[in-house]
Amino acid sequence: MPVIALIGAQWGDEGKGHIADKLAAESSIVARYNGGDNAGHTITVGETLVRTHLIPAGAFHPRSTCVLGAGMVINLRSLAREVDELNRLGANLNSDRLKIDPAAHLLLPGHVALDGAGESRLGRDAIGTTRRGIGPAYTDKAARIGLRAGLMANAGAFAEAVGTHIEQANARLTRDFDQPPLDADTIVAEYAALAARFALHLADTTTLIHAALERGETVLAEGAQGTLLDLDHGTYPFVTSSSTITGGVLTALGVGPKHVTRVIGVAKAFCSRVGAGPFPTELRDALGDRLRGTGANPWDEFGSTTGRPRRTGWLDLVALKYAARINGLTELVLTKLDILIGIDPLPVCVAYAFRGEPATDFPGDTATLGGCAPIYTDLPGWHDDITAARRIDDLPQAARAYIETIEAFTGIPISHISIGPDRSQIFTR
Ligand code: IMP
Repeated sequence: MPVIALIGAQWGDEGKGHIADKLAAESSIVARYNGGDNAGHTITVGETLVRTHLIPAGAFHPRSTCVLGAGMVINLRSLAREVDELNRLGANLNSDRLKIDPAAHLLLPGHVALDGAGESRLGRDAIGTTRRGIGPAYTDKAARIGLRAGLMANAGAFAEAVGTHIEQANARLTRDFDQPPLDADTIVAEYAALAARFALHLADTTTLIHAALERGETVLAEGAQGTLLDLDHGTYPFVTSSSTITGGVLTALGVGPKHVTRVIGVAKAFCSRVGAGPFPTELRDALGDRLRGTGANPWDEFGSTTGRPRRTGWLDLVALKYAARINGLTELVLTKLDILIGIDPLPVCVAYAFRGEPATDFPGDTATLGGCAPIYTDLPGWHDDITAARRIDDLPQAARAYIETIEAFTGIPISHISIGPDRSQIFTR
């Protein structure tokens, strides 16, 4: 049985939680492989709306083990808060069900403070990070001065390492950013308690994953953020600091390409992006506001981690085809098709114009992308309510044509379609 990679095919916030929750029911392990609590997945469990940031969306399927993989940066404060909240809702994330890889890095208070200070300093040139400390934590990892989760098993060395981290962060905060220092003693004491708690969850998750695969079980690798936020292949520097794409699954979880037999890209029926950076199909008008929603509904286009309004725009097929290529997608999941009800016609971007010349490939260079104007094809819209659809034949002809256009352009079949937030509102093609 395979590893299923579940990847955001746009700029994040594609609605991965919905399909992750569905696939988790068939998976013995659900593993997050990248990022940290910059992510936010929203799922509904019965009547309750649940937001996860670090814990994979499989948390509510009691038979699946939840893994925080080696490619992650884990904020133990956030983890404690989230596990407590999910357990209150019945998730039962004890040390048998939630496993932390010793090679995952810990994201510490100095990283959070430095992220915020760095962004404030950049002012109008800021990346628009979530200010959760992601960049500084991965910086320490790459510089080989990071603190790995495995150290939680050694209380003395762990306390010393947290102390050193605060000392180094304070030197930078006070010297480079004119910020007050963090209180080392309080933080060391707090983190000693957090480490004692979460050390019980440490496990070599690569071995766990391979054992599951050898037993013929399915492992779901759950991505955070999206393809265009990938550190290498996204719109650098307006990206996150981890590998969000299929390649990231391999390095983070320690599996080979032969194990990943399904690569599912999740794409919204339109586009959104939070933070700065080029976004060719962005709408800055009433239609953009309409795609965003007012924020009254938890599914509206406002960041589930930061609450920031997302930038919104038409579906970009050039970017989606790029995502299909670099991830090796085998299927697509199309989400939020219901949001397009009543918009007629529906433009989709099928090429860019760069300095007056048409371009059909997504440019690797971010400045070039910034100079690209979208070339649209207008597709017919539909006016019928589709939120009660349970199979493809329930959709109006124009909605089916929209789906078929995406498939024809990207060359990737759409396997699932979601038409609302409820667990019942996602159906298999
Ligand atoms: P960071 O990951 O907090 O460093 O933020 C870097 C960029 O990635 C910013 O543009 C963020 O808005 C964006 N970003 C990070 N996490 C998410 C996410 O889960 N969804 C959408 N955008 C994200």
